[in-house]
Amino acid sequence: MEKNNIETRDTKSVEERVSGLLEQEGSRSELAATTKKFLGLMAEHDRKTFLHECRVALIAIKLAEFCGFKDQKPELFGGANHDVGKLTISGELLGKGHITQEEYEIIKKHADASAKMLAKYPFTAYISGTHHSQQKNSYGVDFKGAGLPDGVKEATERRMKEAAKNVALSDFFDAASTRKTSQMGGENDKSPRERMEAEYPDYLDRIDFLFGSQDVQEIVGGRG
Ligand SMILES: [Fe+2]
Ligand SMILES: [Fe+2]
Repeated sequence: MEKNNIETRDTKSVEERVSGLLEQEGSRSELAATTKKFLGLMAEHDRKTFLHECRVALIAIKLAEFCGFKDQKPELFGGANHDVGKLTISGELLGKGHITQEEYEIIKKHADASAKMLAKYPFTAYISGTHHSQQKNSYGVDFKGAGLPDGVKEATERRMKEAAKNVALSDFFDAASTRKTSQMGGENDKSPRERMEAEYPDYLDRIDFLFGSQDVQEIVGGRG
C-alpha cells in the first residue's frame, strides 16, 4: 500500500493531523465546521475522549484504505464525532477508573446522544450512533436513533455500513490498546486481540491489519 497520503505523516500529533484533514475539506463544508466545533468542545470537556476521537478517525481512515475505498470522508467524520454524545456526560464520570452499574448505564447512552447531536448529517449520525451496537457481546447497546435515510442508494447504504464497521472496529481497537477495559465490559484475562476477535469474528482480516500496520501503531503510539 502506498504511503504518500498526507495523513500518514507521523511527525504531527493526532490532533494536528485531524485538524489538517478538516481544513482540507474547506470552509464550504458545514460538516467539517461542525466537527471542528464539536472536537473543540470535547477538548475542553474531556481531553482523553477528544484524543481518542482523533485517533479513531485516523485509524478508521487506515481501515478504509485497507478496504480499497478512495473516499475516506465517512470514516473521518464518523470517527471524529463518534463519541460526541459524551459531551452530555459529566467529565468527572468520564474520568473515573471504576464505575458502578448505574454509572455504566448512563455512559452507555452516549452513542444514541451522538446520533441525536448529528441528526442534521444522517450518514455521520448513523456511523456514530451504531459504534457500540455492532459488537457481538460486550457493550450490548441497541441503537435507537435514526437509521439511514429512506430511499438511500444501495451502494451508499453498503458504503455507510462499511464505514460504521470501520469506526466501530477502530473504536474498540483504540480503547483496547490504550485504556483499561472496565468501561468496555471486557474479560480482563484476554489479550486485546482475543477480545476483539470475539466481538468481531467476521472481520478477522481487518483485525489482522490493525494489529500489523505500522501506521496504525504510530497513531495509537501516543503522539498527541
Ligand atoms: Fe463510545
Ligand atoms: Fe469511542
